[in-house]
Amino acid sequence: MTISYPARVSLARLPTPLEPLERLSREIGGPRLWVKRDDLTGVGVSGNKVRKLEFSVGEALAQECDTLITCGALQSNHCRATAIVGARLGLQVHLFLRGLPQGAPDGNLFLDYLVGAKLSYYPPAEYYARREEIFAELVEKYARDGRKAFVIPAGASDEIGLWGYLTACEELKADCKRHGFAPDYIICATGSGGTQTGLIAGNALHQLGATIWGINVDDNDAATFKRKIRADLRAWKNRYQQHLDVDALSIEVIEGYVGPGYGKAEPPVFETITRVGRTEGIILDPVYTGKAFHGLIKEIESGRLADASNIVFIHSGGIFGLLAQHSELNFESVGSQ
Ligand SMILES: Cc1ncc(COP(=O)(O)O)c(C=O)c1O
Repeated sequence: MTISYPARVSLARLPTPLEPLERLSREIGGPRLWVKRDDLTGVGVSGNKVRKLEFSVGEALAQECDTLITCGALQSNHCRATAIVGARLGLQVHLFLRGLPQGAPDGNLFLDYLVGAKLSYYPPAEYYARREEIFAELVEKYARDGRKAFVIPAGASDEIGLWGYLTACEELKADCKRHGFAPDYIICATGSGGTQTGLIAGNALHQLGATIWGINVDDNDAATFKRKIRADLRAWKNRYQQHLDVDALSIEVIEGYVGPGYGKAEPPVFETITRVGRTEGIILDPVYTGKAFHGLIKEIESGRLADASNIVFIHSGGIFGLLAQHSELNFESVGSQ
């Protein structure tokens, strides 16, 4: 199928590898597990965000903007990826972050400082209540300074950013063909929804024939994500004059794995992170990929994926979030040998 893509700036190292998890699949005794190594997209180990930013920043450059403004949690991978991409392209980046920093910055926040992003902090209540106003205030502030700012929403999860995982599906189709299988499920962590939205559109447009599961790792519930994903699909269809019947696409957001809340993980998630690290040399994080992979294993164990022969897990990155929580990992509980 020929698809005409919108403005895009080439940032990611593509294609990323698709690798089988031989030992883990054998150990779990279920379907064959594959991992799409989007932790290796490059630009400072930026994970899934770089695919989306290729289009968001492509649009910013097409509009001749010289400044990027975006928002997220203190340890946001998306904010860090935007900060690094901005530095890479010579664009000013302003991040407004949810929460007030305590002590010296580490993990993603440390990297935001390192690459010179401008940072503002807001208590969570104000951040949520005034997000749109804060964006507008910052755009005006930069206009007064003679700069043109482009707003990227949280997670670059909108009708522009969704092109990132739509195009990833074209890549995945070629990967799976090379390995001689058709994916029954493609599974990702859902934190702001854009990765899953792109996968849903790309799976349909490129006819992968997979079921897309987003494992919810956020405080918003599945119903909220379903509404957002549907709205973004409709906005994409309208903006880019697409013919796909987006209302017919099914949206499956899997609940039950957020644990104590966004960003916080319980010991079983850390045990899964350790297990996958030791069995396969794949490093997951406690905020996104570790929770999603933990959910995947639990769903296999429950028999809910019994119809699957091949499952592709999107490794969306996030290693700096693991480093920011290293003290949570109690090697005595998982065994240090
Ligand atoms: C490492 C990582 N994985 C997964 C996600 C979830 O992707 P999305 O925000 O597109 O739902 C994010 C960001 O939210 C992330 O930083």
